[in-house]
Amino acid sequence: MLDARRFAQTIDESIRALRQLAAAGVGGVDCSAQVLEILSGWGRRPAPAPESLEAIRAEIGDCRRCELCRSRTRIVFGQGRPDARLMFIGEGPGQEEDRAGEPFVGAAGQLLTRIIQAMNLTRAEVYIANVVKCRPPGNRLPEPAEIATCLPFLERQIAAVRPHLICLLGACAAQSLLGTGEPISRLRGRFFEVKGVRVMPTFHPAFLLRNPERKREVWEDMKLLMKEYPYER
Ligand code: URA
Repeated sequence: MLDARRFAQTIDESIRALRQLAAAGVGGVDCSAQVLEILSGWGRRPAPAPESLEAIRAEIGDCRRCELCRSRTRIVFGQGRPDARLMFIGEGPGQEEDRAGEPFVGAAGQLLTRIIQAMNLTRAEVYIANVVKCRPPGNRLPEPAEIATCLPFLERQIAAVRPHLICLLGACAAQSLLGTGEPISRLRGRFFEVKGVRVMPTFHPAFLLRNPERKREVWEDMKLLMKEYPYER
């Protein structure tokens, strides 16, 4: 008799095997999103109804929980499809995001938009958020205490959206969500798991603007994500 954990592992292994068979072109293998969803639901208790993004936003209110509230213009909560299959997580709003109240709308954001389009997706189909929701003054890195204050809200957003996949953009997002100090150059290109969601760290688009020769590596990472993305839903 399999215990619940072993059973869930067996299901996960079966899903991986199905995907590999389908990718290898083995005929008669139904690897559709519907089948994968049915399979992954087997043996698992129905998930409790997630709280809504609106409820999380309402709780954040006119946040004064950390120092970043002093210099921000607007809280940048997140944007996109509330049940997106793919979520992108960056570091924190820059000047243009702070002005617009939307994530990734500046130069790095335009590059992110092009990456999303190259994946045959649109910004409206994915969900985009940041580790911290207020702009660090002078675009400095968010402090550990600021990250620790804001991260629980991001984790609740992840639980609300329930994406299949998360792409962590840059060292701050990767290290904050994976709880590691490893450099992004060693984390990128590998799948990890955060709260049951498969996550792929990659370089931040702002880094790519400064180092365009590293775009190829990000595209390799996006191809790995695309293999796992259920386009046919
Ligand atoms: N960089 C980020 O990390 N997030 C944004 O929203 C914009 C730029």
